[in-house]
Amino acid sequence: MTVWGAAAVDEAAGAGVVHVGARDVVTPLARERARELGVEIVVGSPTALVSPAALPTAGPPLATRPLPDPASVSARPGSAPRPVRPPSGALFRRGAPLAPSSGRPSPRRGSAADGRGGRVARVGRVVVVGAGNVGMIAAMRLADADTFDEVVLVDIDEGRAAGIALDLSHTAALSGFTTRVRGVGTVEEAGHAAYVVLTAGRPRTPGMSRSDLIATNAEIVGDVAARVARTSPDAVIVVVTNPLDEMTQHAWVSSGFPPQRVVGMAGVLDTARFQALASLAGAGAADGVAAWALGSHGEEMVIPLSQATAGGRPILERVGPADLDAAVDRARGSGAEVVGLLRSGSAFMAPGMSAARMVLAMVADRGDVMPAAVLADGSYGIRDVYVGLPARLGRGGVLGIVELDLRPAELAALREAAERIRERLGALT
Ligand code: LAC
Repeated sequence: MTVWGAAAVDEAAGAGVVHVGARDVVTPLARERARELGVEIVVGSPTALVSPAALPTAGPPLATRPLPDPASVSARPGSAPRPVRPPSGALFRRGAPLAPSSGRPSPRRGSAADGRGGRVARVGRVVVVGAGNVGMIAAMRLADADTFDEVVLVDIDEGRAAGIALDLSHTAALSGFTTRVRGVGTVEEAGHAAYVVLTAGRPRTPGMSRSDLIATNAEIVGDVAARVARTSPDAVIVVVTNPLDEMTQHAWVSSGFPPQRVVGMAGVLDTARFQALASLAGAGAADGVAAWALGSHGEEMVIPLSQATAGGRPILERVGPADLDAAVDRARGSGAEVVGLLRSGSAFMAPGMSAARMVLAMVADRGDVMPAAVLADGSYGIRDVYVGLPARLGRGGVLGIVELDLRPAELAALREAAERIRERLGALT
């Protein structure tokens, strides 16, 4: 059995026909692409103009699944080749423009909300790899921002990616976006991306630490990063897969990208958790709390209270040190707390939104400084390891690391975090 993806149809465009075996699987996207290119998909014995062996199937083998329209592959081997009917439009309408191009121009077209009321120039495509819950929420926020021409979800479970994409596309009128949304099975089918959010990997189960996932997820992340590098050699990758700091470094190595274009999401999430918890502890509104969650996304998380403010004043003026220490501890354990409550899967709202926020900050290109896993460059006395530090973000990724005036104990904790990450990376290689 061969799985025919859109890339195979592209390859066969010159010949005008693709011969597939009766037992082969033709992905919905391949059918859609065939319609667009006027390529006929013929089921039957290969008097093939194009032999399947000559056509690359994009990406790793997809899980075998029935064709969307079983009637379309009813031809038996040996019977006369006949055209395959296009799939039911009701099942997949991926890639379809959300509004006809002749339709009313959207007041938001040509510019986009940056999540802060500003307007930014539109960019091409953002690809979210992994259509789990985190990928789903990230995709939703990215589509809502109406910043991209297209948001593409990629998952080995192509039906899930396509289903979420279709569902999300139905919110265009509700949210007021014109961004197209697609769901596909491979990075290659997604096409060239300006930004890639990498969420693929296994989530934690109760009792598991993020580090327990290292070997399994390294394989997935390494493979995806290498594919992204081939498909989108100039993309910025935002890594979300755990263990975050180690997977970000692994993605950087596997992609061969400069470190400015591989960055990890965790500081934004951990800071948001601290902001919410400090608010509960009496610091005022969560968005009036400013703080930096640095170090690792895990046990060695460092939230320097010397740098935290509430309502523009040092946070220690508002909340006692014991309560703040408790908020830091709880922020450090928040991921596990959610895992324990859910019993299956891990947090996704705040992680997905945090990843989207980083991408949107880069697109907006204001030079926002956010806590992020970046390759340390000697700042803070740390070098050559990915660790959470304040990073200035721009369109092309990380513009630089910002040095805060940390207290000696905070600085020591940050360096310790970097060493622990380095050790775990050593165990990986
Ligand atoms: C968490 C996972 C995403 O912190 O690491 O919830």
